[in-house]
Amino acid sequence: MNAAVRAVTRGALARGWEVFGVRNGYAGLLENALEPLQARNVGGIIQSGGTVLGSARCPEFTEAAGRAKALANLRGKGIDALAVIGGNGSQSGSASLAREGFPVVGVPSTIDNDLYGNDVSIGCDTAINITLEAIDRLRTTASSHQRAFAVETMGRNCGYIALMSGIAGGAEVIALPESELRPEEVAERLRAAYKRGKTHALAVIAEGAKCGVHELMEYYGAHRKSIGFDLRVTRLGHVVRGGIPSAADRVLATRLGAAAIDTLAGGKHGVLVGIAGGEVVTTPLVEIAGKMRPADASLLELARVMAI
Ligand code: F6P
Repeated sequence: MNAAVRAVTRGALARGWEVFGVRNGYAGLLENALEPLQARNVGGIIQSGGTVLGSARCPEFTEAAGRAKALANLRGKGIDALAVIGGNGSQSGSASLAREGFPVVGVPSTIDNDLYGNDVSIGCDTAINITLEAIDRLRTTASSHQRAFAVETMGRNCGYIALMSGIAGGAEVIALPESELRPEEVAERLRAAYKRGKTHALAVIAEGAKCGVHELMEYYGAHRKSIGFDLRVTRLGHVVRGGIPSAADRVLATRLGAAAIDTLAGGKHGVLVGIAGGEVVTTPLVEIAGKMRPADASLLELARVMAI
């Protein structure tokens, strides 16, 4: 997110615009917590995760009264347009602002990579790489002991992080919210992997998967004898959201942040800037609200084939 804050700021300053940063997202709009940003204020942040501006969930902003207060604050400060850097919740907020007539451009930033109208969101590459490192490390023990391993990664209702890290990490099984895998199938695939002569058996489980780690642990507990080996579970949680952003994320954030300013300068707003087929594209915010980027079924099939 910091790389996007930097790109929006510097892209706008380069056009001679005045820039303000909003503290803690929509909560800051309600509290009128806006501060001027110069080029030096966003220096030395491209290599840091998170956001120097702060971020917050803000239920008040989902109410018309909350938004009216935010709009009054924006107009009071003479702000002409807003770039909203964030995921689904943030972009539903920007869709509401757009509907209420305020010029806004959304910049997709969420490790979940679930935003419709955009191939890849800021943050997901870093989260995939952190998950992958965990998979690679867990494989050490998995290969030395007769044990199955399951690693749970974040992503809310979207299995993108699990799918990509599972493919890159050579997982035997990948369970996603978008797939119908049941615990007995996961257990059977892990068992079958050992039977085929593999020295390890590893499942990557998305946090929103129908076969979650709880269901899997319960199943293993109840069927320990017939399965014949143990399961160890690692839940990565917020670990995947931290640390140093990858080069791909920094470049993506720089492109999208600058594209948000170019879009506003071109007189367009009420859209999400995104990447589709490698190119910058825009999608009306009202079209993305309530939708989710569909999972790529061919990648899931590819993962299954590669696990033989
Ligand atoms: O949307 C990003 C995300 O990290 C999800 O992957 C996860 O389900 C959720 O946020 C965690 O939210 P919180 O930080 O509020 O617990």
